[in-house]
Amino acid sequence: MPRGIVYEEIDEYIDGLANRGDPALRAVEQQGEKEDWPIVAAAEGSFLHILARSIRARRILELGTAIGYSGTWLARALPDDGELITVEHNPETAAIARKNMEKTGVASKVKILVGDAQGILKDLKGPFDYIFNDIDKAGYPAVLDPAIERLRVGGLLVTDNVLWGGDVARKDRSKETQAIRTYNERLSKDPRMIAAIVPLRDGVSVALKVRG
Ligand SMILES: C[S@@+](CC[C@H](N)C(=O)[O-])C[C@H]1O[C@@H](n2cnc3c(N)ncnc32)[C@H](O)[C@@H]1O
Repeated sequence: MPRGIVYEEIDEYIDGLANRGDPALRAVEQQGEKEDWPIVAAAEGSFLHILARSIRARRILELGTAIGYSGTWLARALPDDGELITVEHNPETAAIARKNMEKTGVASKVKILVGDAQGILKDLKGPFDYIFNDIDKAGYPAVLDPAIERLRVGGLLVTDNVLWGGDVARKDRSKETQAIRTYNERLSKDPRMIAAIVPLRDGVSVALKVRG
């Protein structure tokens, strides 16, 4: 699903070199393509994994599970006693993710919580080492503060689709574009965070919590 952030041939080049993991993970990637699930691409999955391992994350929170593709990349970055909590509001989708995570061998480290991310966040205690936000884009601003509050100092808040096909930089005023703009601006001005946007796929924001 390239959305015009970089030239198409560059996106294809990056995708062609991406680490795709083992056959079990590739099967989830292929399911995503075949059934048109809005999951991250392999290059982004490995990027999420590298970030988690780089900070030796032990406790990760994912907002937006879908079929468990990015969740598997994240869970595979955890040590044996690590934990991924992932939130999905659609129970049928969560059931697919659960099965996929059994097949990819990460189920014992993963807890899937079914419900709305904003509501679930209220009951979730931090600190997390790493939070990956990939829910409905209009819902981004509402989860920003609760996510930052639940992140440890030195932890990462990573967010997908922050360039929204480039629309954030154009005049587009759709609900999603405005919500992502608000999210990016608040994050960039938050004194607790240092944030940078990587123009990979649809734009990935990586933000480090530098103070509480
Ligand atoms: C973009 S997909 C996630 C893709 C997944 N992170 C991956 O790359 O493999 C977003 C998922 O989050 C779920 N979702 C959207 N808004 C949500 C919310 N507010 N709370 C919980 N789940 C939500 C959707 O049902 C969908 O399955």
